[in-house]
Amino acid sequence: MDIRIHGPEADDSERQAVDSVLGGQARPPRDLLLPALHAVQDRFGWLQPGALNYICMRMDLPPAEVFGVSTFYHLLSLSPAPLRVVHVCDDIACRIKGAEAICAELEKNGTPWKRSPCLGQCERAPATLTLGGNGGNAGTDTKLVLQNLVSVPAFPPFPPDGRLVRRIGKIDPASLVEYEREGGYRGLKRALEIGPEAVIREVTASNLVGRGGAAFPTGRKWDAVSKVAARPHYVVCNADESEPGTFKDRILMEGDPFAIIEGVTIAAFATGAERGFIYIRGEYPLAIERIQAAIQAARAAGLLGKNILGSGFSFDIEVRRGAGAYICGEETALFNSIEGKRGEPRNKPPFPVNVGLFGKPTVINNVETLANVPLIVTEGGAAFAGIGTSGSTGPKLFCLSGHVARPGLYEVAFGKTLRELIDMAGGVPGNKRIQSILLGGAAGVFIGPERLDVPLTFEGTRAIGATLGSGVVMVFDETVDMWDILSRIAEFFRDESCGQCVPCRVGTVRQKELLGRLRSGRTIGSQADELALLNEIGQAMRDASICGLGQTASSAIESALVNLKL
Ligand SMILES: Cc1cc2nc3c(=O)[nH]c(=O)nc-3n(C[C@H](O)[C@H](O)[C@H](O)COP(=O)(O)O)c2cc1C
Ligand code: SF4
Repeated sequence: MDIRIHGPEADDSERQAVDSVLGGQARPPRDLLLPALHAVQDRFGWLQPGALNYICMRMDLPPAEVFGVSTFYHLLSLSPAPLRVVHVCDDIACRIKGAEAICAELEKNGTPWKRSPCLGQCERAPATLTLGGNGGNAGTDTKLVLQNLVSVPAFPPFPPDGRLVRRIGKIDPASLVEYEREGGYRGLKRALEIGPEAVIREVTASNLVGRGGAAFPTGRKWDAVSKVAARPHYVVCNADESEPGTFKDRILMEGDPFAIIEGVTIAAFATGAERGFIYIRGEYPLAIERIQAAIQAARAAGLLGKNILGSGFSFDIEVRRGAGAYICGEETALFNSIEGKRGEPRNKPPFPVNVGLFGKPTVINNVETLANVPLIVTEGGAAFAGIGTSGSTGPKLFCLSGHVARPGLYEVAFGKTLRELIDMAGGVPGNKRIQSILLGGAAGVFIGPERLDVPLTFEGTRAIGATLGSGVVMVFDETVDMWDILSRIAEFFRDESCGQCVPCRVGTVRQKELLGRLRSGRTIGSQADELALLNEIGQAMRDASICGLGQTASSAIESALVNLKL
């Protein structure tokens, strides 16, 4: 392509940053675009024009394309910015725990900071994350700045009988030896013995359904990919975890990274993939570091790479870092992001099992889904199906946050009631009354305290018009201004819409404005007119948006207006 560049040429340091990713390849593949942009952002704190021009030349990409990708992601900056910036979460769990005080404090002492949607650290709300230079860290720098306003425990204490969490906090996440001592890699070894078809039979018999929110049967997905003749096949682990209130995948990756690698490897063996990706949100630097270290250790031990454990099966994994875009958790947006494009969802069909990453058949699963896989293969699908209820099998992770005494990650067998789970977390502090509970995250549903006896199963929550979503249980006591919470949710969807479909792009803006009018009492027409309009906007977004973001952007808000006494 005849690429013409206007503006500055790259200096040595800019070339070095880009070449650290693109190496000496004559025409680097397009999927290296986002890693190259990250390298520049990490090195300089923003995307300097010289470096961008050099990327265009090296990758043979028009500047408009690179500009389009660069402007899509919140963590990339096209204007000069400090190298290190404190990101302060002002999303719903953090705003009820003092996020504004942190913002005010940082502003006062001149620390470079910016507001952020949910950082996935709701159990330690109010949360901050320092990003910049090489990587980042959760809490620490800010903790010094704020003199212990923020406390960051390592891991919450987990019950010894947990299945998914049993190694977390007990083993060194960097130690393959300790992982294997505690039962690790038994699943992969058994998979290699019984063969791909038998693995899919076990996963199907387990009735495992995806834990990423859509609850699709995992065995059916794997079976479909395994039968598609087109090659190659890919496995993708969705670790984008950006649903406000969700932090389970982060704790799994930080605390037991080999379990995720093992789950991905078994998925690849069962479905005939030789290459896999783990796409981790950019706001999870520690998870990225630990997963990368685990991949290297697994490779060195012959558990990844050519001819794994002498079985003839070859497979390897790459980590890809997100750059701040909730929509990239949507599976097809995630594929586009890995491919070096804007993270915009694709129309479906075709579905990923036929046309996924790089246009090839792809299994995409959530981190928690894949963490269940070694258990299923080791213990057998029937044993797994015996845990929980007939409609919701296995162990389940719930992210408890908001007004509970011990916010954190809780593992239970499906079937516990909401009341039991909140009691496990120590109940509501200060003997306050529960005003509402958000189930399933910002894309979920608010329910009132009269629903505390709902069983936390797919069928139980469906029966009351709610959802388990990604396992969020956020509790709001009587002191919370729910209009403020609804407003923040509306703002979240407005800001995170990728803008492709008119109903979502415009509807999320109108929804936010309308909530503002309802809150202030300055309605256009009567309050009933405004509520009717809100429902109409919600219906248009549900009917005519191409992806789940637009289809669920009004769900929590509409449910609050119906279920809560606002
Ligand atoms: C807006 C949006 C965001 C999503 N974010 C995530 C996410 O962060 N993690 C995830 O696993 N699934 C997410 N999903 C669901 C994925 O599209 C997909 O269903 C999931 O990765 C499949 O894995 P599972 O079957 O194991 O659940 C999201 C969906 C939508 C519509
Ligand atoms: S529904 Fe919204 S987020 Fe999804 S593709 Fe359309 S505009 Fe983008």
